[in-house]
Amino acid sequence: MRLIHISEVNPGLKVAKPIYDSKLSLLVQKDTSLTSQLIEKLKSIDIRHVYVEDEISEGIILEPMIADVLKLQAITMMKQLYELQDSISSEKSKQVREDHIRSLRRIIDDIITEIYDQYDKKYYSTELLGAEMYHYDHAVEVMILSVLIGKKMGIDRERLIKLGMGAILADIGKSKVPPEILNKKGKLEPEEFEVMKKHVEYGYDMLKELVELSPLSRQIILLHHEKLDGSGYPNGFNGDQIPLLVRIVTICDIFSAIVSDRTYNNRISVDVAIEILRTAAPLKLDGDIINYMLQIVDIYPPGTLVELSTGILGIVVTNNASAPTRPILRIFTESGNEDVDLMKDLTLFIKKVIPKLPQ
Ligand SMILES: [Fe+2]
Repeated sequence: MRLIHISEVNPGLKVAKPIYDSKLSLLVQKDTSLTSQLIEKLKSIDIRHVYVEDEISEGIILEPMIADVLKLQAITMMKQLYELQDSISSEKSKQVREDHIRSLRRIIDDIITEIYDQYDKKYYSTELLGAEMYHYDHAVEVMILSVLIGKKMGIDRERLIKLGMGAILADIGKSKVPPEILNKKGKLEPEEFEVMKKHVEYGYDMLKELVELSPLSRQIILLHHEKLDGSGYPNGFNGDQIPLLVRIVTICDIFSAIVSDRTYNNRISVDVAIEILRTAAPLKLDGDIINYMLQIVDIYPPGTLVELSTGILGIVVTNNASAPTRPILRIFTESGNEDVDLMKDLTLFIKKVIPKLPQ
């Protein structure tokens, strides 16, 4: 199994994971052989990457840490919360929101149970939906990543739920940002960015009176764009003024955005995302939390195509737990494919991730 760009998908190729449409209905079952019609359909709903089974990725396994059905429940709940915005009056909406928040906490509790059960597995994004579902999918990804890091840091279960609730609801205020700004392709103008920045206060205000949401979760919603050097918003807090749980969500939010297909951007590989977190913002983000990030995701997820220091190309088969940059690779040579353990062949290095094999 490997993740490939939709432009590389040819009729006959078999999908390795189910794909859902924007109503969250099953569009393509796992193991379906794609036809040209289906490929066009996937493109039309802005599915940019799909997991497929092909010859070079034979035997490569990516086991999901969180069951798809649970993730889809969380995404559905987030979509409903976003859509509540205009549809009901404010008194009724408060009650409905309380109910939604309660349901959301139950789902997060179930997800945390799955995380406790599969502690040693690494997390990878599941790509179940198209880019138009980005905001809901992103909220759930940020929640899962935050809880995973919190668990690694030894945070107790009760606080993990509060962390997860704050993480999944961090951007809920974006439901009040005009869609032409929220989904703009390209860079925001300074005045548009000022509107976008308001999402933290919108979100906080929308949920501040709900008894079902803890003060800790509300604090995460309000402060998740603060930076350690004081350059963030809305308060320009710095250093110790920014609580640990907020810092976790800030990093997971940025990481998840970089490695996802968004309406205005294509995904970037995990190794580059980590590099961006480390080098672009050394004074802004908590470096310890970035180190924890490396414990929960693979720098080179199985199925990633890479170029080696010798120019040879290969695909990641599985990772070595003790050395995340030295996985077991299947390399492509003139005499055929061959599996090589980079922990045993110390003369070979991964030079870079490549998006596809040359034709
Ligand atoms: Fe945000």
